[in-house]
Amino acid sequence: MGRRGEDSPGALLVLGDELRLLSADFIAEAVACLRAGYPVAFPTETVYGLGAPIGHRETVEQIFRMKGRPSDNPLICHVGAPEDMQFLGREIPPLAHDLVDCFWPGPLTLVVKKQSHVLDCVTAGLETVAIRMPDHPVALALIRAVGEPLAAPSANISGRPSSTAAAHVMADFADCEGVVIDGGPCAVGIESTVVLVEEDEVVILRPGTIGVEDLRAVVGKVRLGGTATRPMSPGTRYRHYAPRASVRLEEAPIAPSDAHILYLSTRELVGFETVTEYNLYDWLREADRRNVRDIVVVCQGGSWDSLAFRDRLQKAALR
Ligand code: TXA
Ligand code: MG
Repeated sequence: MGRRGEDSPGALLVLGDELRLLSADFIAEAVACLRAGYPVAFPTETVYGLGAPIGHRETVEQIFRMKGRPSDNPLICHVGAPEDMQFLGREIPPLAHDLVDCFWPGPLTLVVKKQSHVLDCVTAGLETVAIRMPDHPVALALIRAVGEPLAAPSANISGRPSSTAAAHVMADFADCEGVVIDGGPCAVGIESTVVLVEEDEVVILRPGTIGVEDLRAVVGKVRLGGTATRPMSPGTRYRHYAPRASVRLEEAPIAPSDAHILYLSTRELVGFETVTEYNLYDWLREADRRNVRDIVVVCQGGSWDSLAFRDRLQKAALR
């Protein structure tokens, strides 16, 4: 997984093909692909998204099929400017504007009541819509060039680790049609914080790097939504982020002894690879590339102190 090259700020990769097209006008080519009805995977600061213009029902439905995603799990609409929130949402509470002013562009997704034109296949039939403005120049350039928000889930097979590099997307969708814009590795590495914005409070539906205290500093009343047995965001109902290898969480260091096991630790520990929010999905995918049977993670300090990291790792460890 390499850093983005100076000479290739974005490169277009064709799914299911060895061909790597280096193109000065990769945004125009990606737009042409979307207009022709094929999805485009694009980098964001969190993870790669697999996008379709929000009005293109067939391409949106194709994305659900490509991912094997349950149809009751709604997609996030990615906008190119804060003002576009009104195009998708209605009766937007003032708290939402405060959050947008503070955190957009950035890894915060707002759930508000939807406008009637937003397709049911995007919102999975819900009366609400999830909206975010990504903090990535390639994502913003693509959305603005399309002239319409992009509905995009994370660019991975449903239930598997998200993609934080173009190579991850290529590996998951080798048999599919579409293109990937390679914008290098994602800076954050885990998905956005998802919040439901109500008149007088904000409810966290999925934790992310923007945490409870960050939100509280802006809107005052913030609570964590749902419970383990009855989560509030449809996407949090499923086993998620999981590699083929089993994931075992340990509270105390153990002696690494088995060549069929990948040993990770949330803080620096001799004999263990250090796992962070930034590299979590790459390590989960690496385990499968190495064909290891189990992943053991020593969960003590470091990234384990992050609620969002714990959420992803615990879901990956569910059986
Ligand atoms: O960082 C991210 O959020 C990435 C990048 C690509 O933007 N996207 C992402 O999308 O993680 P996805 O589809 O993997 O996760 C979206 C989450 C799911 O848990 C889904 O259930 C929830 O957002 N969601 C979407 N619309 C919702 C709604 N109207 N109400 C409640 N939850 C919603
Ligand atoms: Mg996802």
